[in-house]
Amino acid sequence: MNEIYLDNATTTQLDPWVLEEMKPFLLQEYAAPSGHFGYQASLDAKEKLEQARATIARSINAEPEEIIFTSGGTEANNLALLGLARALKKPAHLVTTAIEHESVLNTLKALKKEGVEFTLVGVDQNGLIKLDEFKAALRPETILCSVQLVNQEVGTIQPLKKIGKLCAERGIGFHTDAVNGWGRVGFDVKKTNLSLAALTAHKIHGPKGIGALYKRKDVKLSPIMYGGYNEFELRPGTENLPGAVGMARAVEMMKPEHIEHIDKLKRMLWWGIKKDIPWVHLNGSIDRGAPHIINVTFDYIEGESILLHLDMQGIAAATGSACFSKALEASYVLLAMGRPHEQAHGSMRFSFSRFNTEEEIKRTLDALKGIVADLRKLSPLTPDKEA
Ligand SMILES: Cc1ncc(COP(=O)(O)O)c(C=O)c1O
Repeated sequence: MNEIYLDNATTTQLDPWVLEEMKPFLLQEYAAPSGHFGYQASLDAKEKLEQARATIARSINAEPEEIIFTSGGTEANNLALLGLARALKKPAHLVTTAIEHESVLNTLKALKKEGVEFTLVGVDQNGLIKLDEFKAALRPETILCSVQLVNQEVGTIQPLKKIGKLCAERGIGFHTDAVNGWGRVGFDVKKTNLSLAALTAHKIHGPKGIGALYKRKDVKLSPIMYGGYNEFELRPGTENLPGAVGMARAVEMMKPEHIEHIDKLKRMLWWGIKKDIPWVHLNGSIDRGAPHIINVTFDYIEGESILLHLDMQGIAAATGSACFSKALEASYVLLAMGRPHEQAHGSMRFSFSRFNTEEEIKRTLDALKGIVADLRKLSPLTPDKEA
């Protein structure tokens, strides 16, 4: 494991307290929580599952029966989009943004094969949805708009309240992929007029493999998997009780002082980079972005090269989104924000958690200064006189 981990928008360390909370449900109280087995251990497990559901509901101002446990954010987004479109059983139209996570974009591409149309709305240079374009994209047959809370690459926070109001005025459903914002950027499903919202535990120091979909009571979905009748007949399979307990504990442990801490680290790294390294650009907004993400372009060099050199010094960060760094393609998020290809290639994402320290940020800054200077000496693109 890298000594310094600055990739907390991909996943986070499990908090040891969360693990302690989960342990009894892995080792001693392992009965299935469906509650229909008729023995005490299962009834106790069911009670614990319902407590976890209530805690998660409270964190977004929902009712417990509006929370459906899933295997994570990807499944929650799939259930929201496929489930709603299939429940309607007629050709329909959805609206989303060009910078959503693949679990939204690829689900919509799959829905297209079922006759469901969708429109991608553009974003401005900071990654904010273009509201005029959004309004123009709405059609009489639009059933749902899906706009994320926080962008996974640049940390842009979308104006969900405004979008929710526009949807409510037109009787259109509103879904948010809140996976990279939940617990770090507050949101309230009622004030935001949300019909659906996807959550995950592993981005906030909970376990991997558990998430949830918020579904407002009156919203009708079709299941996307078939089996037993758990989770309000929307998600079959034996419930992941240790995961649910861990997820609830994880969100309870997200405190305002943690957010202040990660916001401070984010600013420290950005101001340090800006002060000591020439030819850098911030992608997104430092003051209006999420507290845990910055995305920086280092001109004339590849993000991949920086990533590898940081890794050699024990520092984990990311270029673009995790999936795209594998494909070595320029980030579609940065391209949608109007960045030229070369800049989209030279970008790095640093993302923070409460377990990071100021000392780690200082070490990362020192490492970056050396790496960027060395790579620029080798790059044929670096302007001669200033190299
Ligand atoms: C914005 C966003 N949505 C969805 C997901 C997928 O979540 P999960 O890993 O829980 O399936 C991620 C994770 O990378 C994400 O950042």
